Amino acid sequence: MSKNRVSRRQFLNYTLTGVGGFMAAGMLMPMVRFAVDPVLQAKGESDFIPTKQKIDEITTEPTRVDYTFEQVDAWYTSEESGTAWVYKDDKGEIVALSPVCKHLGCVVNWDSDKSNPDHFYCPCHGGLYKKDGMNVPGTPPIAPLDVFSFKEVDGFLYLGKAEPR
Ligand code: FES
Repeated sequence: MSKNRVSRRQFLNYTLTGVGGFMAAGMLMPMVRFAVDPVLQAKGESDFIPTKQKIDEITTEPTRVDYTFEQVDAWYTSEESGTAWVYKDDKGEIVALSPVCKHLGCVVNWDSDKSNPDHFYCPCHGGLYKKDGMNVPGTPPIAPLDVFSFKEVDGFLYLGKAEPR
């Protein structure tokens, strides 16, 4: 008779421990995966957002360019929208300005105030910006409009982040 004989009590202990461990792993794995999944996901290839604005159709007149993008916030993905004012300056360089007023965050419009033509105008408190986005002294905003980085892809405008100057 072998000395390594497993008793009935030991057999039940081993079996219950094994089955219990297997079941616990089955319950915990999805939770662990749920917790770390957003961290492990690869980031997008580019931070630039495509727009429907063709580069060769940009004129010297500021044009409102609307765009949409997917925003991933941990486990939640939503579709967001944004706007830029885009034009070509005297040198033919593209300028893309944020529409967010630097006073309290309202949205500015181009040439919408009859008494201040060819300016960006904020209707909330009468903020004014010149065409290049510089704030007009004496009006509420104390900083120029933020400027988007951009690039051209297949003839279309892609917008990056709007940064303060
Ligand atoms: S929020 Fe634009 S002037 Fe106040």
